[in-house]
Amino acid sequence: MNIEEIREDFPLLKRIENGKKITYLDNAATSLKPKQVIEAVTHYYEKECANVHRGLHLLSEEASIKYEESHEKVAKFVGSKKEEVVLTKNTTEGMNLVMYSLLNSDFFKKGDKIVVSGMEHHSNIVPWQFLERKHGVNLEYVELLDNFEVDMDDLKEKVKGAKLVSFSGASNTVATTPDLKKVEKIVHGEGALLCIDGAQLVPHHNVNFKSLNADFLAFSGHKMLAPTGTGALIAKKEHLEKFEPFLFGGDMIQEVELHKSTWNSLPYKFEAGTPNIAGSYGLCAAIDYIKKVGYKTIDRQEKLLTKLCIEEMEKIPSVEMYCPKDVNKQGGIVMFESKKLAAHELAMTLSEMENICIRSGMHCAEPLVSKINKEGLARASFYFYNTEEEVHKFISALKETISLLG
Ligand code: ALA
Repeated sequence: MNIEEIREDFPLLKRIENGKKITYLDNAATSLKPKQVIEAVTHYYEKECANVHRGLHLLSEEASIKYEESHEKVAKFVGSKKEEVVLTKNTTEGMNLVMYSLLNSDFFKKGDKIVVSGMEHHSNIVPWQFLERKHGVNLEYVELLDNFEVDMDDLKEKVKGAKLVSFSGASNTVATTPDLKKVEKIVHGEGALLCIDGAQLVPHHNVNFKSLNADFLAFSGHKMLAPTGTGALIAKKEHLEKFEPFLFGGDMIQEVELHKSTWNSLPYKFEAGTPNIAGSYGLCAAIDYIKKVGYKTIDRQEKLLTKLCIEEMEKIPSVEMYCPKDVNKQGGIVMFESKKLAAHELAMTLSEMENICIRSGMHCAEPLVSKINKEGLARASFYFYNTEEEVHKFISALKETISLLG
């Protein structure tokens, strides 16, 4: 598939506002959705709208089959077992599921150590802070090098005595992609568990849970073409078998008596209540779409656009970038600022003048971003349907905005 063909599938790219197209460069926040995903969701509501695992009628049977299939599809997509796929609403829920499950199984004692990196999203900081406060666990941060890569020597030091290391597989701010093979060796070599925040990893890289050999991998469907409210936690079966459920209620049970209950089989013991059924139809369509495009195309296009963006930004004297500035060391994200204009003002002006969508602010990673600039930074993030023409349009609007308002 070429990019022009791909773009035909995304209705939002056809939207005209004030006579101008939308240039969507906020893909790290959420991706656009192709018509195949929108149609899959509509199909559920129009043809098979019923609850799952709760009825013997035609509609419930059809929806239940599809809902179960979505676990199989995700499992094949990330190279795990079906029982290891817990569908969640996003990465954050997956990370919280890991935290509460470890907490409920008395995994941590007072004084135990959890290690994260210095480039984490709030969803890989705040859950562990809860354990610090409630259980006296110590949270430590691995330093970043000057080019924003993770300092592996510091990881080797900090991992000593740690019970858990939880790392982003690809940063949503400085864009760095740590070498997860090396991280896994170091972490498991010290006997700690490894949790990966895959929110910016899985949409852009072919991940295989078995060879990654992490204990937990959380990611969001909505950053990889699927509807909002979709995501998955992939966890080694041995952990899920041991864990108590995190949420209690309908469908996660096998038998309920007045004072005790038994749990459903994996993974359903972790999916209490009516799930996001429509979302699971959309998630299946999203995975089909990504497979059709292929990670080679995704990688090639993102590298092309990121390289172009970095080269063009380097030519603007008042602009500073905060990423490795090397496409072999980073994902399709460029975090930056203009020394002449606040990030929010810049983002609002690009939107108002040219319908260009970028993100500004703390990017859900305040400890890192506020250290660079207390007022926040700007960020352009690409996906495979973006084009070189869009990058040029963004760069020229950026220059114009800085010269007008800066
Ligand atoms: N984590 C998302 C972002 O980086 C919301 O924008």
